[in-house]
Amino acid sequence: MLLGVNIDHVATLRNARGGFEPDLLKAADICEENGGTSITTHLREDRRHIKDEDVCNLIKTIKTKLNLEMAIADDIQKIALEIKPHSICLVPEKRQEVTTEGGLDVAGQLDRVSEFIKPLLNAGIIVSLFIDPDEEQVKASAKTGAQFIEMHTGAYAGAFGSQNEEDEFLKLKDAAKLAQQLGLKVNAGHGLNYENVHRMHEIPGLYELNIGHSIISRAVFTGLAEAVHKMAELIK
Ligand code: PXP
Repeated sequence: MLLGVNIDHVATLRNARGGFEPDLLKAADICEENGGTSITTHLREDRRHIKDEDVCNLIKTIKTKLNLEMAIADDIQKIALEIKPHSICLVPEKRQEVTTEGGLDVAGQLDRVSEFIKPLLNAGIIVSLFIDPDEEQVKASAKTGAQFIEMHTGAYAGAFGSQNEEDEFLKLKDAAKLAQQLGLKVNAGHGLNYENVHRMHEIPGLYELNIGHSIISRAVFTGLAEAVHKMAELIK
């Protein structure tokens, strides 16, 4: 199983000061050097973390693959067609949300999704649809021409350790099986962390996990001691 590292929150931290620190390209490099098999970023319509120039710079410098998360939006589609990432993942997007809440409703807008991804597929970009682990959504996704789905693992992550964990986990397992039977490759992501990720191995054939928040959060603590120590040394 491969690991796509979502580095959006490195940009969130950088944007808090509006400068260049922490350097996004350096972050991508560290992810790649340590087992990340692709770099994922979400170019949101409000550009709250990743900016257009970040995507342009990443595509030039990363050594693995760029996976661009994007909404059904013409201006973002234009950028994707210009920079040609390895893959895009189509996600729903609401301006007020803190992070992507729920999967894309492919079944409810089958023609719109199919039409929107056509130019991207024609340009040789791999297309993935971020959907809830739901039979109707999986079946609709298989009709669009997309090669991948990414299953939203947020409900599983939220239920982890509770009575509902098994139900939410089985939804993922069943959806993955159905998708694979219909010829789709299957990724998963959202809310996966160091406690709940191990169960992804119980889902046969999962291709890639996209993980961001838990990795960047852990990095704060694994790096904080060294960072303080270094500064204390310097000012001594
Ligand atoms: N996959 C998709 C489609 C997402 O939108 C996100 C969040 O940006 C992730 C994976 C990663 O989720 P998390 O940051 O909770 O690991």
